[in-house]
Amino acid sequence: MYKIAPSILSANFVRLEEDIKKIDTLDGLQYLHIDVMDGSFVPNITIGPPVVKAIKSVSRLPLDVHLMIDNPEKHVDAFIDAGASNLTIHIEATRHPERLLSYIRSKGVSAGISLNPATGIESVKYLYGAFDLILVMTVNPGFGGQKLISSTLEKVKLLKKDKIVNNLNFAIEVDGGVSKENISDYISAGAEIIVAGNAVFASKDPVSAIKGLLGVK
Ligand code: DX5
Ligand code: ZN
Repeated sequence: MYKIAPSILSANFVRLEEDIKKIDTLDGLQYLHIDVMDGSFVPNITIGPPVVKAIKSVSRLPLDVHLMIDNPEKHVDAFIDAGASNLTIHIEATRHPERLLSYIRSKGVSAGISLNPATGIESVKYLYGAFDLILVMTVNPGFGGQKLISSTLEKVKLLKKDKIVNNLNFAIEVDGGVSKENISDYISAGAEIIVAGNAVFASKDPVSAIKGLLGVK
């Protein structure tokens, strides 16, 4: 079984509450995915803790906060206070990932680690057990609506294998360029949470779009 995490990056920011309420009572959703970008780790700038807090007040879904920022250790408290249920940092963005992941867990929040497309799974091998979720980026982070990079499929397969062999229980999430056409490859490979921005919110009918990704009528 897999679940969808709709990404608000492709929603209408002027009508964010309206867009969120179109979808947040549907079955098959794990999280509402929120992309935080700083214009340094990635070229784009998006939103910060006050907006996350505002979203928390209108959505029934747990918030999956994806930090695409340098020096995430400076900002995790603000996002935890804003209401993150899962907080994901990038392995490429911090020198002491184990310390930060364990700090996030100590606050009662699920701790996620993310890998850019060019980062191999050996970068997190010695962190197995220290995170609750691994986010495999299937595009270069920074923008919604990009084309999925297919070489990322192998990483999901390798992670799934390591997870079974080592009897670990982290969730495998993928993010970027997922569509009705390619989702089944990633599910078969072992992805359990599928982030979808453009495929949901750029569609005329986000409800049918989610059902389409879930393969239900
Ligand atoms: C990209 C973000 C994604 C983005 C995915 O840097 O991390 O979460 O919203 O959007 P789509 O599904 O449009 O590629
Ligand atoms: Zn994301």
